[in-house]
Amino acid sequence: MFKGKNFAFKRVFVENNISIGGIDFLSYVDKMYSYYQKLSGYLPQNSKSAEVSIGDAATLPNSDDSVSAIVVDPPYYSSIMYSELSDVFYVWMRECLQDVFPDIFQPELTDKDNEAVANPDRFDSVAGDNSSKRELANRSYEQKMSDIFSELYRVLEPGGVMTVMFTHKETDAWDTLTMSLINSGFVITSTHPITSEMPQRAGMRSSASADSTLLLTGRKPHEERDPENATPSLWSDVKADTRAAATEAARDLLDSGISLTKTDVIISAFGPTLRVFADAYPVVDDEDEEVAPRKALEEAREAVTQVLVEEFLDGEGIDDLDDITKWYVLCWLVHESQTFSYDEGNQLGHGIGVDIDAIKRETKVWRKNRGDIKLRSHDGRVQNVNEKPEDRSSRIPVNPDDLSFGRALDGVHAAMHVYDVKGESACCDWLRERNFDTDSDFKATLKALLQVLPHDHDDWELARDLAVGRTRDVLDLDFSPNVFAEDSEGPTQQGLDDY
Ligand SMILES: C[S@@+](CC[C@H](N)C(=O)[O-])C[C@H]1O[C@@H](n2cnc3c(N)ncnc32)[C@H](O)[C@@H]1O
Repeated sequence: MFKGKNFAFKRVFVENNISIGGIDFLSYVDKMYSYYQKLSGYLPQNSKSAEVSIGDAATLPNSDDSVSAIVVDPPYYSSIMYSELSDVFYVWMRECLQDVFPDIFQPELTDKDNEAVANPDRFDSVAGDNSSKRELANRSYEQKMSDIFSELYRVLEPGGVMTVMFTHKETDAWDTLTMSLINSGFVITSTHPITSEMPQRAGMRSSASADSTLLLTGRKPHEERDPENATPSLWSDVKADTRAAATEAARDLLDSGISLTKTDVIISAFGPTLRVFADAYPVVDDEDEEVAPRKALEEAREAVTQVLVEEFLDGEGIDDLDDITKWYVLCWLVHESQTFSYDEGNQLGHGIGVDIDAIKRETKVWRKNRGDIKLRSHDGRVQNVNEKPEDRSSRIPVNPDDLSFGRALDGVHAAMHVYDVKGESACCDWLRERNFDTDSDFKATLKALLQVLPHDHDDWELARDLAVGRTRDVLDLDFSPNVFAEDSEGPTQQGLDDY
């Protein structure tokens, strides 16, 4: 019925093929039942039966300081209009269940007024020149989430723990969430990534959205904090502590041997980083301007990227490369994928001084793919060496006839192309003419690409071909692709069972 999380009715294949058996309706019921059994097994023997209630999280019936643990999985801005979608089912459930749950099914449709979503359509009539309906919707969502966190703080007992599920990796999203938590009085303690979405789900395939859910843990301190009246800390002091906390968290995670994606390592460092930031809050810069949590997260991202470089790229050579080559290598290293969110690529660019929008057209190292970044491979960046120069597209930036290249990546991509279309022997001559045997940047880039590209990628195979046989001799390489050849099966992520 729904292809996406909206009413764009379209004919699509169903997510589950019920004809193959084993995944029919009853087996789903059995599965649900066994999960409930497993969950209830965690409860102490003599625990009271659970009470389930439904309502607005901003007005809870519980008294102050009465709850020891809170787990929330909040909506995120306009990503899903829960109540609108729910109405489709609600009207039928109401028909069947109104007698059983008269209070819950009293309204004709679901509650839209108290919903914590950013729904621009609800602001159609009030939007004006000063604020668009989207801005108004976003503001109302942020206010609602802030009201909810304050309410959760009220009911939580001192020392109690709150876990927030969070699937978004954009710094903006973290900025708002963190400010909301800090202002409510919570102390942020940690972030844990876990796998919760099935990668084979129709909605998740080929999407670069978050591949894991993050659990952010906060506590209600025993002593009330008053962040608004606290003495401000200086960003220059907090910055160093932020970096140190992020570096330590990343090192601990890598040393623990737990298999995580590199992005998850970065995100896991956000918790300890935010803890430092929240402890120091409010933070101001040299001009006495308040510094937002995003600054701390940017710092953390950079610090952890440095740890990842040291861990996975031997730390050598990459620092001396030109910025664009470095950005390209780091993107592959961190995301382990050709496509990833624009925000993350942009952040990586900031860290090393690359304005990714400014370089897009001229270098063609990346292109937009449904709002995400898609890194380009050598194919598409290098002019066809077999075509006459006048027949080549001038929009393709790398000319393989050049005798030197401004960016190390261009040289390596051109070498891949020449090897691919002209073969080993011609490539040896090509490399010799350009003195690549004495070009440390060329070699460092080739080595880095061998380490970061997935082994089934065409460019990895070409990089490997360049690093063996006669081209290897011409280049006078001191490394062999065999070192990187044990094709890892890709990082296995933690699942709920690991906790
Ligand atoms: C991310 S979903 C939770 C999904 C759930 N954890 C699951 O696995 O099915 C967010 C939920 O928050 C609910 N919600 C929206 N506004 C709310 C509010 N003011 N109070 C309580 N719940 C709200 C939405 O209806 C939606 O069901």
